[in-house]
Amino acid sequence: MHIHKFEKIWLIFGIATLLVFLSTIGVSAFYLGNQPPSCLVTIDPEKVAETPPFNEPGLKQVGENEYELTMVASAFHYEPSHVQIPLGATVHISVTTVDVIHGFQVPGTNINMMVEPGYVSTLTAQFNREGEFLVLCNEYCGVGHHMMTSTFEVIK
Ligand code: CUA
Repeated sequence: MHIHKFEKIWLIFGIATLLVFLSTIGVSAFYLGNQPPSCLVTIDPEKVAETPPFNEPGLKQVGENEYELTMVASAFHYEPSHVQIPLGATVHISVTTVDVIHGFQVPGTNINMMVEPGYVSTLTAQFNREGEFLVLCNEYCGVGHHMMTSTFEVIK
């Protein structure tokens, strides 16, 4: 079989472009520690207040400069509404909601999760910058949506 020279060039070009495209998607999706949203852990949204660790929201030390942070989202606030985090800490964050879908974003960091009723959203983050960080809801959840915030205070 005879393939025309230009046909061959375009064929190779097409395959090469496809490979670049696929590897870009494959690599960039996980670049800088980005994680796909985890919707693997389920919870009864009506029993959040009785389900550990959500019965005691807050920061808990689990290792040397390693912590677990449990937060509960509801219209229109987060519990706790303020968290002090030691500088350099590795924090395993777990969030759930008792009512509707909320967001969980910390602008200036790569913390950005959707919080859905019935699921626990998790993410591990490191806090290497001192200062106050705003936690905000980026999913429209009702009349108080724009007031739904919490703060992380990273201290030495
Ligand atoms: Cu919660 Cu918007």
